[in-house]
Amino acid sequence: MVAAVLAAVAVASGSARGVAARPLVGEGGGGAWGDDRAPLQASRAFNIAHRGSNGELPEETAAAYARAIDEGADFIEADIEATKDGHLVCFHDTTLDATTDVADHPEFAGRRRTLEVQWANVTGYFVTDFTLAELKTLRAKQRWNFRDKSHDGISPIITFEEFINIALNAKRVVGIYPEMKNPAFMNKHVQWADGKKYEDKFIATLKKYGYGGRYMSPEWRAKPVFVQSFAPTALVRASGLTDSPLVFLIDDVTVRTEDTNQSYDEITSGEYLDYMKKYVVGIGPWKDTVVPPTKDNRLATPTDLVAMAHARGLQVHPYTYRNENKFLHFNFRQDPYAEYDYWINDVGVDGLFTDFPASLRRFQEWTAKKKD
Ligand SMILES: *[C@@H]1O[C@H](CO)[C@@H](O)[C@H](O)[C@H]1NC(C)=O
Ligand SMILES: *[C@@H]1O[C@H](CO)[C@@H](O)[C@H](O)[C@H]1NC(C)=O
Repeated sequence: MVAAVLAAVAVASGSARGVAARPLVGEGGGGAWGDDRAPLQASRAFNIAHRGSNGELPEETAAAYARAIDEGADFIEADIEATKDGHLVCFHDTTLDATTDVADHPEFAGRRRTLEVQWANVTGYFVTDFTLAELKTLRAKQRWNFRDKSHDGISPIITFEEFINIALNAKRVVGIYPEMKNPAFMNKHVQWADGKKYEDKFIATLKKYGYGGRYMSPEWRAKPVFVQSFAPTALVRASGLTDSPLVFLIDDVTVRTEDTNQSYDEITSGEYLDYMKKYVVGIGPWKDTVVPPTKDNRLATPTDLVAMAHARGLQVHPYTYRNENKFLHFNFRQDPYAEYDYWINDVGVDGLFTDFPASLRRFQEWTAKKKD
């Protein structure tokens, strides 16, 4: 027996090519199969894969979401927009320019135009000017040149329903975290024959797949979801349509809300958080509004936003954590783990939107308290 064990150890430590020493990030991809799918973990901050594992693969694609699930994300996150013909798709920008090959499609050249989006004029190819069939002819590309572009030109845009099915077909329970994106803009540019609004279509899609339980109810734990939005009006409307937990996103201090035209100071006042807590279970602030950066790329003193939210029973899920040096404040010594350590253990947040869910997962696995 000893010889056999030693032989096995020799093989394992020989790091022969093709022999995986251990899974990339622990049990990220699996746990139990079938009816006994491993549940959503609820003992530590949620690992929210921002637009999928978009640090590695083009954002909001099936490939990016599958990678995030393999890497151990608790939730896969998506921005939901409406097409010209009323379908809901996963896409972040209002225009297709930065993350698809639309510019290489001469048949669409005439579609480029300028529209007002949240207090600014934006020029480009708008998602809302394309039918779903037309969007399906495009291919996604990596947004930033400093990230891996070898997957450009491969993955199509996916629908909200395709996104939901990726989570439901995972080998463990994986939550979804879809955003009602620019609802005022969607309702202005897309109309549905039945007179329903974007928010109605969004919630109806979740209900079709059995989402709708209260936060932490058995129904919710079977199909976890957070619905997020920057738009207070859309959140209040959605709260009347579903029991699914809602999260109020908070933009940078200079940005006013799209629908209610409120300032950062107004929406982060105690009075306003008291009002919003009737509708939402948490806030999702841009992380610089929780801990402002200094001019020399260090961290200033944290604001009281997390304390104010926690005092009201609201969770805090800041965005966005990114591994690259250019996004890391110098306090963190160019170490993304140091950044996670600070936000999880010093600031005490309840979830983190990350472009690199594998790194957050590894940090959480390697710092987890031993259970025995
Ligand atoms: C957008 O452009 C139009 C036409 O030039 C102009 O009337 C409008 O004020 C602009 N909006 C913003 C927010 O700059
Ligand atoms: C939004 O509010 C600001 C500050 O009160 C105001 O200057 C601006 O005109 C408002 N914009 C709209 C479109 O109401």
